[in-house]
Amino acid sequence: MSQTVHQPVLQIEGLSVAVEGKEIIRGLDLTVRGGEVHAVMGPNGTGKSTLAQALMGHPRYEVTGGRVTLDGEDVLEMSVDERARKGLFLAMQYPSEVSGVSTSDFLRSAINARRGEGNEIPLMEFVRKLDRALKALEMPHDMAGRYLNEGFSGGEKKRNEILQMMLLEPKIAILDEVDSGLDIDALKIVAQGVNEMLSERLGVLVITHYQRLLNYIRPHYVHVMMQGRIVKSGGPELAEELEAKGYDWIKEELGIVDEAVGQEA
Ligand SMILES: Nc1ncnc2c1ncn2[C@@H]1O[C@H](COP(=O)(O)OP(=O)(O)OP(=O)(O)O)[C@@H](O)[C@H]1O
Ligand SMILES: [Mg+2]
Repeated sequence: MSQTVHQPVLQIEGLSVAVEGKEIIRGLDLTVRGGEVHAVMGPNGTGKSTLAQALMGHPRYEVTGGRVTLDGEDVLEMSVDERARKGLFLAMQYPSEVSGVSTSDFLRSAINARRGEGNEIPLMEFVRKLDRALKALEMPHDMAGRYLNEGFSGGEKKRNEILQMMLLEPKIAILDEVDSGLDIDALKIVAQGVNEMLSERLGVLVITHYQRLLNYIRPHYVHVMMQGRIVKSGGPELAEELEAKGYDWIKEELGIVDEAVGQEA
């Protein structure tokens, strides 16, 4: 391994998160390093998106305990902007539409925010990068001129999230159900986009319900989330086992009656 490459580390220890006074994440531990792909799976309502939102600093998600660091720096102390600037990225399960801001303007300001004042990306370099990413994702060129996600189809929004990731070059990327709503071809294209970026410089946390995505983005680790924590971890074979057998066997093994947060007796 090269000595000069910076390998980022996201470290989550004992994280607890409440939404509107209700505790959703309860003491979650996870470490993601550059070069690693971690898949987080788990039944609906077990806190996967809550984890993603809390890591990015969404104001509705109140961290009630634990520590999160990126390269040793306290993430929980950072504003949302700062987290993005430091290299955290979230592709959202439900991307929002932003009227009045073109996709390319949005991308350019996001890149510049990440690069910092005085180090703005030269226009030509931006155009080149954008073109390359649009081509890689097989997105029509005029899409970047349209308002951010406005009127985009479900699959187009998902591609747009990966477009952002490709241009922002994050250290840690959290992909929350990027596969939902994608047709089979788009799934492969999006996975290819992610795979092209994979290196020691990027750690990826993919949240998904389906093994199918993991055929294209091969995870090193698979984690199962229930009741707001990781209850089981394994290698890629765990995802295959889940695909074949569902979740009941894990619940039985661990004595979990109801997997969703807040349903337990
Ligand atoms: N903003 C919110 N307001 C109220 N409840 C919330 C909010 N966000 C999350 N919750 C609740 O927290 C629980 C976990 O939700 P979350 O979206 O994290 O689940 P998930 O594991 O991502 O599920 P899915 O697989 O369906 O996407 C759910 O019961 C949900 O209703
Ligand atoms: Mg979710």
